[in-house]
Amino acid sequence: MNFLSIDLFTDAIDLVAVLLLALGLKGLSKVRSARTANGLAALAMGLAVVGLLIQLQPSPITWLWIAAGSALGGLAGVVTAQRVPMTAMPEVVALFNGCGGMASLLVAVGVALFASQDSGMVELVSIAISVFVGAITFSGSIVAMAKLQGWLDTPAWTQSSLRHAVNIGLALLCLLAAVQIPAHPAGWPLWLLVGASSLLGIGVTLPIGGADMPVVISLLNSYSGVAAAAAGFVVGSQLLIVAGAMVGAAGLILTQVMCTAMNRSLVSVLFGGALGATGGSVGGGGSEAGYTRITSCSPEECAMALEQAERVVFVPGYGLAVAQAQHALRELAKLLEAHGVEVSYAIHPVAGRMPGHMNVLLAEADVPYEQLVEMDLINPEFPRTDVVIVLGANDVVNPDAKSDPSSPLYGMPVLEVDQARQVFVVKRSLGAGYAGIANALFELPQTAMVFGDAKAVLNGLLSELRSLGVGKVAAGAKEKVGV
Ligand code: TAP
Repeated sequence: MNFLSIDLFTDAIDLVAVLLLALGLKGLSKVRSARTANGLAALAMGLAVVGLLIQLQPSPITWLWIAAGSALGGLAGVVTAQRVPMTAMPEVVALFNGCGGMASLLVAVGVALFASQDSGMVELVSIAISVFVGAITFSGSIVAMAKLQGWLDTPAWTQSSLRHAVNIGLALLCLLAAVQIPAHPAGWPLWLLVGASSLLGIGVTLPIGGADMPVVISLLNSYSGVAAAAAGFVVGSQLLIVAGAMVGAAGLILTQVMCTAMNRSLVSVLFGGALGATGGSVGGGGSEAGYTRITSCSPEECAMALEQAERVVFVPGYGLAVAQAQHALRELAKLLEAHGVEVSYAIHPVAGRMPGHMNVLLAEADVPYEQLVEMDLINPEFPRTDVVIVLGANDVVNPDAKSDPSSPLYGMPVLEVDQARQVFVVKRSLGAGYAGIANALFELPQTAMVFGDAKAVLNGLLSELRSLGVGKVAAGAKEKVGV
């Protein structure tokens, strides 16, 4: 009975898995649906594995291998996810991309070892592509992770034009090996392609500075999708082809969005080297000496301004994540809301160190989604905002990005907090942010610096406001001075 055939049944499972994966990817674009979407995508992967097992009907001993591998991999995944701090998430994503690339590489090599000249051209070409992209993704991702972790520096020679010569040489070797694969599928071209592609992944990623690394990781994520799609052609899995293509396209779109938000072109990221990049030092100083008109104030003065405000906008940045101050921030916001203050959070697309960093951080503290306002929507609101509190953000609120053509940030879209009536910047020092440059916001007349760790300052603000009686007064009952 054709209708009940195993192939038809597993095709149906694959179709459901693809649909779930597509729904998962769509849901990931909204904070509200991201958690469920992640679950859907995981379910899709689970179904894909079940479908494959039904199709292959492994022997008991193979079952044992599969079960042991799944348990080991699952355990590694759970431990990693639970232990890694949010600020190290780019490294984890890089590692996972590398694993994806390695899987595609191993599948292609495994099939190539049993292939012959009589294997179909589609299979042989797919093997070459899968090995090439898989090896680049694997070695490039490992280098990206090591650089972000601070285990690897950028060697001086990679900043000269010598690296272009080396990379072009490696790319030509890859091409030579790839065109020879159909003639000798399991022979020397395969191993030459594995070696040259792996070195090319290192050669391309090593010169890139820490500041651009998250863009590269997003690009490598896209490559891992392409490698998976190619592996899908190798093993004849439609599911893998579709899933890989979706990951490839999504990674490419994310790369483009990040480049735009960071005011970088992909070409300058890939071929510009590490020059001008700080590598992401936090509080990297350098610009402290340049400031001459800084006003600082205590949490007490800041609390008094908050107590009088009708509309407050919090601007979270990387420092909020470092201080793990999201729960204290939520407490403060609740207190202000109980006092009748309108509270919202301004979200810059590249605040923090990974896409969606601030959304995830604030969601952890149960901040209502509707209070998170994207940059384009919040910018027109700043002129009618009484108080802006910038919490561990720096580059994303730098007004030079709009007005100083000599600034490295010039052209990057920023949160226009300088339009608000009063701005308090909470950070530990006058040290620079990720871009390593001074911030004109700090010297504006409406700005006051509140120096300290974000969590300590927020706790200070909470106790000051409580001592002012805020929170005890019913909403709307407070008297506004000068309003
Ligand atoms: P940054 O410009 O990096 O500034 C973070 C600030 O946090 C620093 O100036 C630091 O000043 C402060 N800080 C650190 N620890 C703190 C603590 N415990 N308490 C209080 N403040 C603390 O952050 P941003 O405004 O979020 O901008 C993000 C930057 O990263 C942008 O340049 C962006 O292009 C780049 N980037 C983003 C991404 C993504 S996808 N999000 C990827 C790569 C790069 P002190 O040392 O003085 O405290």
